[in-house]
Amino acid sequence: MSISKLTRSAYDAGTALLLELFESPYLNLGCWEDSGSSFPRAQQRLVEIFGEFSQLGSGQEVIDAGCGTGEQDLELLQRYDCKRILGLNISPVQVEIAKARLKATKGIAGKLEFRCMDAMELSELPALSCDRVIALEAVNFFQDKERFLRGAGHALREGGCLCIVGHMPLRDVPYDVESVYSEFCAELGDDYSILANDASRSLLAIRSALEQEEKLKRQFKKFFVILERYLEMIKQCGFAAEEVRDATRQAIGFFPPLKIRMLELCKKYPSGHPNRETLKSMLLALFLGRYYVYRHVRAGYYLLRAKKC
Ligand SMILES: C[S@@+](CC[C@H](N)C(=O)[O-])C[C@H]1O[C@@H](n2cnc3c(N)ncnc32)[C@H](O)[C@@H]1O
Repeated sequence: MSISKLTRSAYDAGTALLLELFESPYLNLGCWEDSGSSFPRAQQRLVEIFGEFSQLGSGQEVIDAGCGTGEQDLELLQRYDCKRILGLNISPVQVEIAKARLKATKGIAGKLEFRCMDAMELSELPALSCDRVIALEAVNFFQDKERFLRGAGHALREGGCLCIVGHMPLRDVPYDVESVYSEFCAELGDDYSILANDASRSLLAIRSALEQEEKLKRQFKKFFVILERYLEMIKQCGFAAEEVRDATRQAIGFFPPLKIRMLELCKKYPSGHPNRETLKSMLLALFLGRYYVYRHVRAGYYLLRAKKC
């Protein structure tokens, strides 16, 4: 299955649970400057920082690739007085949530539109039609990043900017599932019992998939692209990088509160409940991802703005 199809079905099935988990309409992992922050506050803060970094401004036309439930676009449209924002999302479920939110908001008629569309298809939109293409914690999911970048170049006017933010590993290393899993169990400590049976089954599935399926390994590699490669691709696709901002320190704060929220929700649902099972898998994926990205690969969390040449 392609990353696009996997992403669509995972978000369609999991969005309600994610919104319950975060207790907010946002799906990003937030900017945790002060340890007392909550998810809604940290997520909103990230949207503010990204809007400022993207140099959004009055009268601009913006395409938001991977717009989640649309909350960030409502916020950015009003904060920066943009002329128009087109929010794209591969998940029909999230697009419906965004449309309902739009319907319930007064005073923005004609300025905001949400469309179910793959960000790989930006070249089908009118050429030279916008000032910003933004993607907030979404590019990792884009199957063919170069195609996305070329599409952004097509849609942007001369001098317009592409602005992305997300987790990017600093170097490519092989992923050792076994040792990562041991560290993961040690860190969970007593809470490990919540996951035990299901987690070990999931581990076996992940391990055999990684060992046996070269194709899956290649998919994994496509998901996390290193910063250096982004910079190369951006150049090849006709952009000049204007600013790269390292926000790793602020971004990694999400792990402890997310673990706490996941365990709280796990305990809320009785054993065998589908949400409990989904949360266990999410927790496992979170930790495997965490050790992969932060401990072993050394990830960074970057904001990147590039101007169309
Ligand atoms: C981690 S969420 C971030 C959502 C939103 N930007 C936010 O911060 O709340 C990633 C988003 O990208 C969307 N997405 C993933 N792959 C996509 C694709 N190929 N085309 C369009 N949207 C995509 C997902 O459906 C999801 O809404």
